[in-house]
Amino acid sequence: MAEEITMAYVTEKTLTDVVRERWTDIPDARLRQVMTAAVKHLHAFVREIEPTSAEWATAIDFLTRTGKLCDEKRQEFILFSDVLGVSMLVDAINHRQQNGATPSTVEGPFHIADAPAVANGGNMAVDAPGIVCFVTGAVRGLNGEPLAGATLDLWQTDGDGLYEAQRPEIDGPWMRGLYRTQGDGSYLIRTVKPIAYTIPMDGTIGELMNRTNMSHMRPAHIHFAVEAPGYHGLVTHLFESGDEWINDDAVYGVKEPLIVAFKKMPAGSKAPSGEIMNEPFYVVDYDFVLERKAQAAAA
Ligand code: BEZ
Ligand code: FE
Repeated sequence: MAEEITMAYVTEKTLTDVVRERWTDIPDARLRQVMTAAVKHLHAFVREIEPTSAEWATAIDFLTRTGKLCDEKRQEFILFSDVLGVSMLVDAINHRQQNGATPSTVEGPFHIADAPAVANGGNMAVDAPGIVCFVTGAVRGLNGEPLAGATLDLWQTDGDGLYEAQRPEIDGPWMRGLYRTQGDGSYLIRTVKPIAYTIPMDGTIGELMNRTNMSHMRPAHIHFAVEAPGYHGLVTHLFESGDEWINDDAVYGVKEPLIVAFKKMPAGSKAPSGEIMNEPFYVVDYDFVLERKAQAAAA
């Protein structure tokens, strides 16, 4: 007896519908929604560009090489998502409410987990090139309540524009630190002033960017992940006002409330730490505002 044929033999015309139909057979509703949308849009994309087999192989090779550039210190796929504006779209979708809390922005590919704890006022840029910069302020809730014991996980470039992951010669940690707010919600960070820098151009995303006329610069900034129990965590940056690339960030990450003055102080001035500095330095003043999580409904 002939075997029963259960597989649909597809044509160019029917293929998308047949594949979509098969991918509806997923018990988890969210995964089903994601995968059927992925099939729909991927097929539409391929139908629109009509790649040759060689072009498709090039695309697969590009993604393969992108994956090979991902490890615990480097994340080329995040960079891909960033330059396509997808990271900021996900951010926008997830932070639609403008309620006075500090806005979030892209995390980027350079965050490294388990930053070393640094005391309030301690230096997270020991031996790093660059001009000393103090960042000071408080972490508060939306009603102005100070958040004692909030954590601020910072990462940034040194004064040469390089992150830890870009300094393989250095046995880190480098240019990152975990600070905690004081009883009054205040914090004091000592670091060096970041500079504008290029996104990594030595990988697959750089290859792609080099075939465009787009800028690959990011304006000078410091990254922060701020957390306090009972409040929504915040991943954001502070950007230097007046930076040449403030309106042309390669990853679309700038938001107006995150642009701050890096005040230049002459040698001989008193730092926020109380010491008189022998060299010029910068001071940034910024209060982070977190949104309280909704209380669980009483049983
Ligand atoms: C960063 O700021 O570290 C960054 C963000 C997105 C792409 C590249 C770098
Ligand atoms: Fe950065």
